[in-house]
Amino acid sequence: MTHYETLQNHLTDKQYTWLITGVAGFIGSNLLETLLKLNQKVVGLDNFSTGFQHNFDEVQSLVSEKQWQQFTFIEGDIRSIDDCTHACSNVDYVLHQAALGSVPRSIEDPITTNENNISGFLNMLVAAKDANVQRFVYAASSSTYGDHPDLPKEEDKIGKPLSPYAVTKLVNELYSDVFAKTYGFKTIGLRYFNIFGQRQDPNGAYAAVIPKWFAGLIKNETVFINGDGETSRDFCFIENAVEANLLAATAKNEEASNQVYNVAFGERTTLNELFQLIKERVVATHESAMNAAPEYRDFRAGDVRHSLADISKAKRLIGYKPSFSVQAGLDKAAQWYLQNLG
Ligand SMILES: NC(=O)c1ccc[n+]([C@@H]2O[C@H](COP(=O)([O-])OP(=O)(O)OC[C@H]3O[C@@H](n4cnc5c(N)ncnc54)[C@H](O)[C@@H]3O)[C@@H](O)[C@H]2O)c1
Repeated sequence: MTHYETLQNHLTDKQYTWLITGVAGFIGSNLLETLLKLNQKVVGLDNFSTGFQHNFDEVQSLVSEKQWQQFTFIEGDIRSIDDCTHACSNVDYVLHQAALGSVPRSIEDPITTNENNISGFLNMLVAAKDANVQRFVYAASSSTYGDHPDLPKEEDKIGKPLSPYAVTKLVNELYSDVFAKTYGFKTIGLRYFNIFGQRQDPNGAYAAVIPKWFAGLIKNETVFINGDGETSRDFCFIENAVEANLLAATAKNEEASNQVYNVAFGERTTLNELFQLIKERVVATHESAMNAAPEYRDFRAGDVRHSLADISKAKRLIGYKPSFSVQAGLDKAAQWYLQNLG
């Protein structure tokens, strides 16, 4: 039995209260779905800046009425300490996902990114510490590796940030470390590497590459590749990220706390390869995609060239063992995009 299967068994027997911030977003709504299916109690906080009511509607349709009743939603903003304090009351575990994602967004508007990702983060840390939650697990980012050239990326070898977004995610880690040292508060940062899957938004200027390309190929629109297509990423299916969150929050091992972990699959895929993998899956139902070819344009400012994670630390300390390969994850993602956009 894997650590995650053991944990699922434990959770079905015992009910905890979890706070998910950013619960209306992509990762947050997937955490919500899994926790409700495990009969947990969930409090959610979101201001709908990039999250959606339709994500709640979908989760509601996937759980029982009784499980849905275990969810309490607070429409609020992490930039308000009062909203954070309200949300943290009587909570066992915090899974803090709320932030403004996207490197280009942060380059266009660093002030708003800073307010959400640094001031909002600090509010959540203070509120969670004051509420004596058992552990504070937060969304960190692979962007923290910045200009460090080594591959694969190991947690303690980071370079200088390449964007305002990366600065905010690094500051989150610095604050968490200081809160662990000065207040004895238990935090864990999960450095996500290009997470993808159901409910990731394909629309808008800051959409991520996988949903954007599924939508483009399904709708017969031009798909752009920034650069020569040999840029590579360690794409990681959402269910792996959900497992990492639950394992991190509940890890018994003292050594596991006050750490950051890479959350990835541990394999590198180039954008050219990714295009083919997505195209193969769309062509099965949309023949029009058969002749689709990407249009190449300039490299994007702030992007790192290659990314690949060493996931051995998460394996060793929290028992993380990603269940889904990139291909298996793309199969599931394809089902969802074809059903929702096809
Ligand atoms: N998706 C990825 O590949 C990836 C990679 C690295 C890090 N991350 C981080 O993971 C977290 C979740 O990302 P996601 O992909 O689910 O993005 P998302 O945009 O789908 O979700 C973020 C959610 O946070 C909410 N939110 C934003 N600002 C808020 C505020 N001030 N108060 C309350 N709610 C607020 C949004 O409305 C949204 O529902 C973010 O912290 C992001 O930086 C994601």
